[in-house]
Amino acid sequence: MNAPDPDRLAPTHGELRVVDDVPAAFAALVATEVRERPHGRPFRLACSGGATAEACYLALAGEAGIDWSAVELLVGDERCVPADDADANQAMIRRVLVEGVTPAPAFFPMDCGEVDAYDGLVASRSPIDLIHLGLGPDGHTASIFPGDTTGDPESGRLVVRTVDATGRNPHDRMSLTFAAIDAARVAVFTVAGEAKHDALARVLRGEPLPAARVRAGRVVWLCDREALGEDLGRLA
Ligand code: 6PG
Repeated sequence: MNAPDPDRLAPTHGELRVVDDVPAAFAALVATEVRERPHGRPFRLACSGGATAEACYLALAGEAGIDWSAVELLVGDERCVPADDADANQAMIRRVLVEGVTPAPAFFPMDCGEVDAYDGLVASRSPIDLIHLGLGPDGHTASIFPGDTTGDPESGRLVVRTVDATGRNPHDRMSLTFAAIDAARVAVFTVAGEAKHDALARVLRGEPLPAARVRAGRVVWLCDREALGEDLGRLA
């Protein structure tokens, strides 16, 4: 991985877009991708978890002109808790993006007891058209945490069980691997708020964090000025 040009503000892989409203920019980008999807097949969207993702999905649910009957929702990562647990990504996705739109899109939640089955499901629905990714304060993305190699391409898997060895991120997890993420046509990171500044700065400096590792057909970083802060904002 080449060290990034310090005078050029861009992640090692992909393009960075500075936006005022990350959820709105995400919703508009997804609506365009659905409209321009390859002809004749469903649009496969792999969803993320967390507060930024929920705000993005609320905006997406309100976006006009999306043919939800053509959308299949997958999950990029999950916490190994009951499906209706407040910490379950699938509970948020179901509430906002399945029950919140008409007609309800096909939804394929993860089940931590069925990792091989989900690996097969992802294989049967590759390439994922758009995978939505968050940036954790520690530089994790999906549920691939710093120092965790189970998500590496060498695993030969599309879906694995993971855990954050530091304990900072709760629950055993299940996650798409880099092989599954990198096979997606588009990967979109949404980074909002000053709490993400340090992680974003580390990514832009080229540190080998999981989020900096993502390739995919196209990688787009939607970031607001709060996350960029003064120092990075001057370069944008
Ligand atoms: C998870 C997410 C995780 C999340 C980031 C950002 O299950 O926790 O998939 O990767 O996207 O941690 O979360 P916030 O937007 O809540 O900071």
